[in-house]
Amino acid sequence: MRRYHFPWKMADGAESEAAPESGEGGLLAELLSPINLFLIFLCLYLLYKIVGGRRPASVPSKPRLPPMKKRDFSPQELQKFDGRGEPETEAGRILIAVNGKVFDVSRGRAFYGPEGPYGIFAGRDASRGLGTFSVDKEAIRDEYDDLSDLNAMQWESIREWEQQFQAA
Ligand code: HEM
Repeated sequence: MRRYHFPWKMADGAESEAAPESGEGGLLAELLSPINLFLIFLCLYLLYKIVGGRRPASVPSKPRLPPMKKRDFSPQELQKFDGRGEPETEAGRILIAVNGKVFDVSRGRAFYGPEGPYGIFAGRDASRGLGTFSVDKEAIRDEYDDLSDLNAMQWESIREWEQQFQAA
């Protein structure tokens, strides 16, 4: 009979003695019994969870600029928020406009900062660029842009970007 290595005594007194296994591979067979394998894997899994899952006690988080009060901007007012000032200070704040809404993207400095690939959108209305999938100068207007020449697909794209910024 296969004997499992439980720490408690079995109900049957005769079975409680740790007698060597006969004819079944002895200790190895006992170790490799399904329940022992299961317990070994469980222990390893729990050990992994305890040791591997540990995070540093405090991950220093980027200081956040206080949110701005809701307000209107002219294209010229928006341009002041192009993130060219000291990062993490008011002068480093980055705003971009999409479909008439202004979003604070200061935390996405790697994208929208002066060195970022989408830096051209900083302090601007990015709608035309996002709608036409372009980061070229031609996709950015200094004056108010009514976007009236854009087609339905480009508008759809603008609205998708708008939703993405809204959700961020
Ligand atoms: C070959 C062309 C392009 C490639 C390979 C590319 C690739 C990427 C990648 C890898 C990201 C980061 C995604 C993430 O980590 O969440 C990103 C973000 C972004 N891309 Fe592009 N991109 C391309 C062109 C463009 C163009 C033309 C535009 C503008 C119309 C654009 C707009 C953006 C914006 C706005 C983000 C930032 C999203 C955020 O704030 O999280 N991309 N892009």
